Amino acid sequence: MSPENTHICPLEHSGRLDSSIRRWLQNPQKILAPYVREGMDVLEVGCGPGFFTLDIARMVGKSGRVVAVDLQEGMLQIVRDKVRGSGVEGRIVLHRCEAERLGVSGSFDLVFLFYVVHEVPDRGALFREVVALLKDGGLVYVEEPPFEVSGKAFEETLRIAGDAGLEVTGRPKRFPDRAAVLKKP
Ligand SMILES: C[S@@+](CC[C@H](N)C(=O)[O-])C[C@H]1O[C@@H](n2cnc3c(N)ncnc32)[C@H](O)[C@@H]1O
Repeated sequence: MSPENTHICPLEHSGRLDSSIRRWLQNPQKILAPYVREGMDVLEVGCGPGFFTLDIARMVGKSGRVVAVDLQEGMLQIVRDKVRGSGVEGRIVLHRCEAERLGVSGSFDLVFLFYVVHEVPDRGALFREVVALLKDGGLVYVEEPPFEVSGKAFEETLRIAGDAGLEVTGRPKRFPDRAAVLKKP
């Protein structure tokens, strides 16, 4: 079911999402390091302006791949411009999805969901699609912002993810955010 309070982060906020202050507060390499290895296939849902995308691509190395999807073509265009000439363009596939369907194919080692689940109208449909795209033993990293997502709402997200077949395996301390790592058994 669609929560009534879903709100899509507007394109005008893309600069805020990709600022040097944020890079200092939320260092992508540090956040990703425990989960991303060379050769991995990573699916990033709601990549926005690509704050994490290029770092993921560097970390998966030449034999890895990142599929970065977003609802908004404007966000994807920002990533496309950043990727050009970066040296990792061959590892990144950009895809425009629909609000209730990712519509990608492949099988992934990691699905990265940073500040996006609360914007998705049907979390159950999202997690079911994610499970279908994950390799057995594959991981899902979820992080949500504290003001938009209460502790109760985050637990409800994890319950929905559980119903889709994922198990919570970790609760990274990401104060003030809410974060969890889930696994496809
Ligand atoms: C708050 S931004 C976060 C962007 C990025 N993950 C980051 O942390 O910088 C949320 C992004 O998710 C995208 N989004 C919202 N609903 C989505 C959906 N149903 N499927 C895919 N992307 C979605 C928005 O277009 C926006 O770019």
